[in-house]
Amino acid sequence: MQVPVLTIDGPSGAGKGTVSRAVAKLLGWHYLDSGSIYRSLAVAVLKSGLDLSDVAAICRVAEAMSLEFDCGDELVVKLGGADITSQLGTETTGNTASIIAAYPEVRAVLLQKQKDFQRLPGLVADGRDMGSVVFQDAKIKVYLTASAEERALRRYKQLIEKGIDANLIQITREIEERDCRDQQRATAPLTVPEGAHYIDSSSLTIQQVIDQVVNLVD
Ligand code: C5P
Repeated sequence: MQVPVLTIDGPSGAGKGTVSRAVAKLLGWHYLDSGSIYRSLAVAVLKSGLDLSDVAAICRVAEAMSLEFDCGDELVVKLGGADITSQLGTETTGNTASIIAAYPEVRAVLLQKQKDFQRLPGLVADGRDMGSVVFQDAKIKVYLTASAEERALRRYKQLIEKGIDANLIQITREIEERDCRDQQRATAPLTVPEGAHYIDSSSLTIQQVIDQVVNLVD
């Protein structure tokens, strides 16, 4: 039996994670946060002190890494048995993930790890290339975006709420840089997959976006 897949692609901070998790829960489907796979690799690479241009060594770390995902109410990720969840959300991890994600060799190693999430009764897959590369045959594809200013403001508020010092101008610049890198890389660039439903969440609430996506599945 064909396992149904709903892909949600888009840039950082568009609300993909929150929307995908909520939709997966409502449908009772599995959830793949593909960004956390790239982020976990970034944590492993930073820990090993590798040069970020040493693609062969990064691939060896990717092949060897053993990841466990617990996708309950809060995502918990273990790398080699150690809980690395708190390290996944930092700016350093995100920026490093974006740099190593540009290497086609690295993406090839991580491809099967992502496909393994496709299990019954269905999968909600969140990322940059879910509908365009990893799950090309997905029945329903969504491209979720928002303006760079709005995404930076959301990230800024998140950090301030957590008591973390943040600079809105710097966050906006980093988001624009990361968008640029993700869109312009040669392999699996961030793009609107063919047949995807385009949703701009700049002036929508999270609940409005969730409702729109769930209606697509109905
Ligand atoms: O989505 P998130 O911000 O956690 O992703 C971190 C980085 O991982 C992105 O900036 C992107 O470069 C990379 N990524 C990717 N393909 C995916 C998911 C994430 O290249 N499917």
